[in-house]
Amino acid sequence: MFSLPPLIVSIVRTCQAMSAAATATTLSAQGDEDLDDYNPQAKLIQTLEGNGITAGDIKKLQDAGYYTVEAVAYTPKKHLITIKGISEAKADKILQEASKLVVMGFKSATEIHQTRANTVFLTTGSTELDRLLGGGIETGSITEIFGEFRTGKSQLCHTLAVNCQLPIDMGGAEGKCLYIDTEGTFRPERLIAVAERYQIAGDSVLDNVACARAYNTDHQTQLLIQASAMMIESRYALLIVDSATALYRTDYSGRGELAARQMHLARFLRMLLRIADEHGVAIVITNQVVAQVDGAASMFGGDQKKPIGGNIIAHASTTRLYLRKGRGETRICKIYDSPCLPENEATFAINPDGIGDVKE
Ligand SMILES: Nc1ncnc2c1ncn2[C@@H]1O[C@H](COP(=O)(O)OP(=O)(O)OP(=O)(O)O)[C@@H](O)[C@H]1O
Ligand SMILES: [Mg+2]
Repeated sequence: MFSLPPLIVSIVRTCQAMSAAATATTLSAQGDEDLDDYNPQAKLIQTLEGNGITAGDIKKLQDAGYYTVEAVAYTPKKHLITIKGISEAKADKILQEASKLVVMGFKSATEIHQTRANTVFLTTGSTELDRLLGGGIETGSITEIFGEFRTGKSQLCHTLAVNCQLPIDMGGAEGKCLYIDTEGTFRPERLIAVAERYQIAGDSVLDNVACARAYNTDHQTQLLIQASAMMIESRYALLIVDSATALYRTDYSGRGELAARQMHLARFLRMLLRIADEHGVAIVITNQVVAQVDGAASMFGGDQKKPIGGNIIAHASTTRLYLRKGRGETRICKIYDSPCLPENEATFAINPDGIGDVKE
């Protein structure tokens, strides 16, 4: 197992303790404990053993990607009974026991406000872009970055993979990064370049990024099961899927396969949402655009590009960012959809040392 760079461990500061009644976990600064003895905020699935739930049942749940009590508690029964060897009676029992450990009722807005005040945001590397995003990329939810080719989606992902490791007061979350690369565009050199900018050792930055190349949509989904397992072993702050939709375009073609594609994509996104809730990590997915074919957009001279994946991806992403090219290395980011940010724009630059502000 790898450890966080000394710089990061030394600058940790303690944050307010999370409310015991909180359901979803939130990334917060850790105390001065050894980060190798990582103690996840989510409850391990083994806690459920006993009361008619056997070690064998726990193993079946783990094999299906359920590593925490929260994961089970957030899942509808009809999905639990699709796990081989889990009967309806057993699923009822599991959910009943899980609901005793995970509080899922109402909370006061005051409490929610307090929890949100402790939410960690990851710096994008550009102060303009961070300002647009109300602090940066939010942890505990899904941010979708879409745009045409060369608009900087992958460059932003690389920058975030380093930035999430920074101390909280430098705009990081003191956690590692999991990177799912579906297009073969992951480049460690780009991480080293960003690390140099913050004067942190390139090799420890690389050690803190675990990357997997996904080859098809089943594999891409399977990797999330591994991701869940890794997240209870050590502190992760960010999960990147670059791109979330590219393999869906190659694995499924034509109208005839559209329904099957959307169903598979929905399942993938549901797993991502669960990981965000369970572990409080930031999830960043990238997406491409296609030309809009319906007449209305072109007739009214509107933007003729739209993100792929339709409503399924629109509903799963909490924050949607649209990138487009500006002059030279500059790019423009527009908030396309967000529960609390207005539809503004910001300009940033793709620099040799990652995403940054435009130089005058
Ligand atoms: N080392 C570097 N220094 C400066 N700019 C770079 C560097 N490497 C790549 N770029 C710039 O980044 C841009 C490519 O961005 P990126 O790969 O993030 O695009 P993308 O949006 O992911 O595209 P795609 O849809 O094809 O995946 C190019 O314009 C390139 O000039
Ligand atoms: Mg890319």
